[in-house]
Amino acid sequence: MTYTSSWRSPSNIALIKYWGKHGLQLPRNPSLSFTLSACYTNMTMGVELYAGNPGIDIFYDGQPKPTFEPKIKTFFSLLGDFFPWLKGSLVRIDSHNTFPHGAGIASSASAMSAMALCLMDINDQINSHATFPGEIWWKQVSEIARLGSGSASRSVFPGAAIWGALDTIDESSDQYAIPWNEHLSPVYKDFQDTILIVSTSEKSVSSTAGHNLMNGHAYAASRYAVARNNMHRLCDVMQRDDLIDQFISIVESEALQLHALMMCGESPFMLMEPGTVAIIKEVWRYRKATQIPVCFTLDAGPNVHLLYPSSYKENVLDWVNANLIQYCAEGKYIMDQVGSGPKKIKL
Ligand code: PMV
Repeated sequence: MTYTSSWRSPSNIALIKYWGKHGLQLPRNPSLSFTLSACYTNMTMGVELYAGNPGIDIFYDGQPKPTFEPKIKTFFSLLGDFFPWLKGSLVRIDSHNTFPHGAGIASSASAMSAMALCLMDINDQINSHATFPGEIWWKQVSEIARLGSGSASRSVFPGAAIWGALDTIDESSDQYAIPWNEHLSPVYKDFQDTILIVSTSEKSVSSTAGHNLMNGHAYAASRYAVARNNMHRLCDVMQRDDLIDQFISIVESEALQLHALMMCGESPFMLMEPGTVAIIKEVWRYRKATQIPVCFTLDAGPNVHLLYPSSYKENVLDWVNANLIQYCAEGKYIMDQVGSGPKKIKL
């Protein structure tokens, strides 16, 4: 018997960064992200139940992609309690991203959340469940996505999501993310994210290795305390329209802390490129000169996310084309914005 499911799931950009984990992908501190719109993974999964030749066949853009296999195998090995049928089945995965993978745009977030959605959907078909689309269903998808990649837990919700327990946020949990969209003040609901692609090369240090380097890091304890405090502050700030200066200072500090942690561990590494630094300095110059509330954040990579209210879209676009495109690989950038979450694709 063969079952299929197709989902489109977006990437997300963290404003408060998750960096450091323990146990089974549990975060050392809570994090908050915007769910994106234009950067997503389209995935189709086919499951041949209890096939004579169980295994995983992975295709990316129509081509076999065996290099993705170890990560997916590890992920599947954690899912026995959720999906007992997975072990003896043949799973075929076809995916396509709208953005370069491995370049610090969270491709694992969109891919692992898409995979969690397909698995849950197929599980419902196998068991003739119809729990979709209740709150519990989404929590479970988020928990499963988390086991594939921590940040993927946040991609399943529209607008903004929080992953990690925080005393002031009801129902927040280390096990799964929760939606936070309804708390956002209007300015943040369609916030823009223009992603400047400084480099499309694969990262020199994976985020898994980066998280591991937080174990025994001299600044680990203080980082987790600062992140927690920044969560409290940002959650207050984003419920109002008039505190965007504080939004900017928290978000930029979080981005630079993430990269500072990479640079001052026992095995230091650097993911910023000269173009990354040039863009950051230009953001500071432009904001001072124009008073336009545009700021930057960084993922675990060299690319720069410019975040700003939608009312400044034209100004920012003119500025990007005049001053920043010189730092972008082949002049590439992606115009993205806060998005509405995953969508089931009708086959
Ligand atoms: O989900 P992972 O294991 O790829 O880690 C992602 C870590 C950052 O993207 C740097 C921060 C975050 O919270 O998304």
